[in-house]
Amino acid sequence: MDTKCEVNNYLMQTYKRTDIVVKKGKGQYLWDEDGKKYTDFFSGISVCNLGHCNPVVNSAIKKQLDCFLHVSNLYYVKPQADLAKELVNRSFGKGAKVFLANSGSEANEGAIKMARKFGKENKTKNNKDRYEIITFKNSFHGRTLATLSATGQEKFHKIITPLVEKFVYAEFNDINSVKKLINEKTVAIMVEPFQCEGGMIPAKKDFLKELRQLCDKHNLLLIFDEVQCGMGRTGKLFAWQYYGVKPDIFTLAKSLANGLPLGAIVANKKLANLFVLGDHGSTFGGNPISCAAGFAVLKLMTPKLLKEVSDKSKYFIKGINELKKKYSSIKEIRNVGLLVGVELDLPAKDIVEFCLNKGLLINGPKEHVLRFLPSFVITKKDIDFTIKILGEAFKCQMLKK
Ligand SMILES: Cc1ncc(COP(=O)(O)O)c(C=O)c1O
Repeated sequence: MDTKCEVNNYLMQTYKRTDIVVKKGKGQYLWDEDGKKYTDFFSGISVCNLGHCNPVVNSAIKKQLDCFLHVSNLYYVKPQADLAKELVNRSFGKGAKVFLANSGSEANEGAIKMARKFGKENKTKNNKDRYEIITFKNSFHGRTLATLSATGQEKFHKIITPLVEKFVYAEFNDINSVKKLINEKTVAIMVEPFQCEGGMIPAKKDFLKELRQLCDKHNLLLIFDEVQCGMGRTGKLFAWQYYGVKPDIFTLAKSLANGLPLGAIVANKKLANLFVLGDHGSTFGGNPISCAAGFAVLKLMTPKLLKEVSDKSKYFIKGINELKKKYSSIKEIRNVGLLVGVELDLPAKDIVEFCLNKGLLINGPKEHVLRFLPSFVITKKDIDFTIKILGEAFKCQMLKK
């Protein structure tokens, strides 16, 4: 039986899979079973940001692989120390601390737990716990019960009700809607600086600044979910550095280890010791191999590479703008760095499918939105190829009209 049949027969059918069987990856390219080459402008949903089989990351993995795979979090492990120190030094600085998890959902779940604990230690005037968390309509925070409850999209709530209580949803980029939801039980605001699953919508700088001010005024925690938009994609290492707004906690996952499962909660000095012995844990969290990969990834995120992200982004956006002039189906281009969304007046899936056939991998997170998340190792030639294929795709759709 072939791989496709076996996957369909033996795995629960929870994903709408693209019709290729991947055989090999190198840099910004993938090859399928038949040897067909694809230019990957999706990077496994912003995971392989440094390209497939990045030689430096792979060599760090191989080195750790030969030492040990796992010893439990009841022992000291150097790759965890290296990674956490680097995360702290490149974010909040000395005094901040990290909790290592396996995924974005887990990192966010831990951040939510931290907020709840903070609300028990910082009570209302009447000495009651605070526990309400403001999140945003159209957001996405993960697949566990709490993170799905935090996610402001009803379609994800249908099969899991009753939800984990006390998440309330404000309008993204609308500070008044946030102000209206704040009450004495509110303890935190959790937000993605760039809504990706929600259709590639950037936060406005002023909006995030005002969220910071509201949190300071009401003693609330500001939590940034940078699971998809962090780790260099904005052209800064962390999205909050791009926006110039410091959260109290931010979460990372996806590209942190360039393809291995790893998540992180980074908490500022004020919150670094909020969790105490026994408050949180994970058997695999901070796996030594994932941490060795994560440390290698961070070392590769040099100012030079981050500048390249911005430069490549500008070149790519220029190309899409040229297409927009030609094809009226392109309604809006939204981006920060190499987080790129294009709003269309036709089904995104038709363009995605056309591109797939021509050897270009992109995706559509919403019915009318294209999403581009190329790795940072793409070249001008790859961008030119992408613009060319997109042009052909729009032309083909125009002729069909
Ligand atoms: C912003 C955001 N938060 C959380 C998650 C969940 O991460 P994971 O799938 O690693 O649990 C995702 C996944 O797409 C995400 O985009």
